[in-house]
Amino acid sequence: MKIVEDQKVLQRQVDDWRRQGLKIGLVPTMGFFHEGHLALMRKAASCCDKVITSLFVNPMQFGPNEDLDAYPRNFERDRSLAEQESVDVLFCPDTTQMYGENFQTRVMVEKLSKGLCAASRPGHFDGVATVVTKLFLAAKPHVAVFGQKDFQQLAIIRQMVEDLNFDVEIIGHPIVRESDGLAMSSRNKYLNEQERKIAVCLYESICKAKQMFGKMGDLLTSAEVENMVKSHIEQHPECRVDYASVVHKTTLQHVENCNENSMLILAVKVSNKVRLIDNSPLQES
Ligand code: PAJ
Repeated sequence: MKIVEDQKVLQRQVDDWRRQGLKIGLVPTMGFFHEGHLALMRKAASCCDKVITSLFVNPMQFGPNEDLDAYPRNFERDRSLAEQESVDVLFCPDTTQMYGENFQTRVMVEKLSKGLCAASRPGHFDGVATVVTKLFLAAKPHVAVFGQKDFQQLAIIRQMVEDLNFDVEIIGHPIVRESDGLAMSSRNKYLNEQERKIAVCLYESICKAKQMFGKMGDLLTSAEVENMVKSHIEQHPECRVDYASVVHKTTLQHVENCNENSMLILAVKVSNKVRLIDNSPLQES
């Protein structure tokens, strides 16, 4: 596995692969790998000849009071995990390489970047869309794999690819969970033992919502689901629901009544310090 820091070097490498007719897969990440990230790398390897994983903690997507400096990092561990997943290039530019001093451009996907996570993280998705654009232009992938865990992010990237004519196939990978159901996340590391146990309440509420939909189908209102989620999660005084919303799976618009296209999507603050997100369709396809 090659470690590449310079995007010009990466571009030369991918141009060379493209000339040879090889199919290139990209997995964008901010590092501190867990099974969720590794599953995306495996998915890319299963459908591409060459896999590039990018590792860049992107300052543009962090707000002023967010955890940019504290964001967990462990380069040596990440390097060895990526190597075991037969990644061909680990692309890890530094911030000056990504954003020169005179950087001025922003990519914004208007409607999808409003509400849900954007309500408490203004500007976050512009940072994501901008960095993913830069990564697509640097790595020139045929395929890029993203996790469904960040559901709003995935919807925004799909929209951006369509709007800007990126010739990249976007694959959404299902959420990888711990054995008790907690969605894997680099931020789970911030939870102490007690908080970690409680954190399973997000997944429990998702399971309950699916059961409700299974019983009541289209008669179920979104408000009933949202109220159940809020009371289930907030029975733990450490947890505060940031949002719990039933939305249409592609537009992410809130719906009044549940149907087979509905997604439950939620974000919870634990002990006012760790923000966890999760989501699921109400009906598995
Ligand atoms: P990061 O949080 O490191 O996540 C990298 C990728 O891993 C994303 O596509 C995310 O959805 C996916 N992922 C994380 N946890 C997952 C899980 N439990 N199951 C499945 N996939 C999971 O998301 C980002 O980085 C950044 O915003 C990025 C897209 C790299 C832009 O900076």
